[in-house]
Amino acid sequence: MEEKQHIGQLFDRIAGTYDGLNHGLSLNIDKRWRRKTVQQMVPAQHVLDVAIGTADLTIEMLRRGKAQQVTGLDLSKQMMAIGKQKVDKWALTTRQSPITDVQFVYGNAQHMPFDDASFDAVTCAYGCRNFQNLDEGLREMFRVLKPGGQVTILEFSYPSNPLVRASYDIYFTHVLPLVGRMVSHDKTAYSYLNKSVKSFCWGEAFAQHMREAGFSDTRFIPLTFGITTIYTATK
Ligand SMILES: C[S@@+](CC[C@H](N)C(=O)[O-])C[C@H]1O[C@@H](n2cnc3c(N)ncnc32)[C@H](O)[C@@H]1O
Repeated sequence: MEEKQHIGQLFDRIAGTYDGLNHGLSLNIDKRWRRKTVQQMVPAQHVLDVAIGTADLTIEMLRRGKAQQVTGLDLSKQMMAIGKQKVDKWALTTRQSPITDVQFVYGNAQHMPFDDASFDAVTCAYGCRNFQNLDEGLREMFRVLKPGGQVTILEFSYPSNPLVRASYDIYFTHVLPLVGRMVSHDKTAYSYLNKSVKSFCWGEAFAQHMREAGFSDTRFIPLTFGITTIYTATK
């Protein structure tokens, strides 16, 4: 099956249980990780949130005043449908205007349907490891970003402490796929997530990919024993 369809369909299948599983399996620490990520952002007018999914990062950046307008890009229409409901609900409770502030666009991060230099900032939370070609995705982020703009990426990494690493291995190899399968009723999605995390690069190796895509001033901040890492850079 073509990759574009495959990843989009995988996330379409688990969209309904994605948020609950994320928060439950991480004991809500994922909310803190997104909050920390948004803290690293320089306030920007128009932000592109690549792999927006169910819009948790977008809502956090709007809540903290780090973005005036957000365009979200994703390959899963179901994930974005849930994201749109959440944005609308958030906007209603805070009396913001979601119609003009947040746009959801169906498309592939490796071939973005946007002009060069069209965004003031680019973000991506837990999307990069799903790209079939990471370098293409990073080059696209660089292309659509305005000169001087900031990219902020949140992605899983691998803990350096041997004890934490052992628990992490057990968790990702056994607990996550089992609970994910039971709750989402999907046989393959959470085994895929496990494999995608373990086979992905992190830390300095990821920063090097960012530099090769053209970014400068690349920094990274490991969180929670290095289970996840925030990367920032500028164009
Ligand atoms: C793990 S979810 C992360 C969603 C959200 N950013 C969050 O923090 O919860 C990964 C998302 O990336 C999207 N995705 C994967 N590959 C993509 C690609 N090549 N282009 C656009 N979106 C992609 C999936 O459809 C899914 O919604």
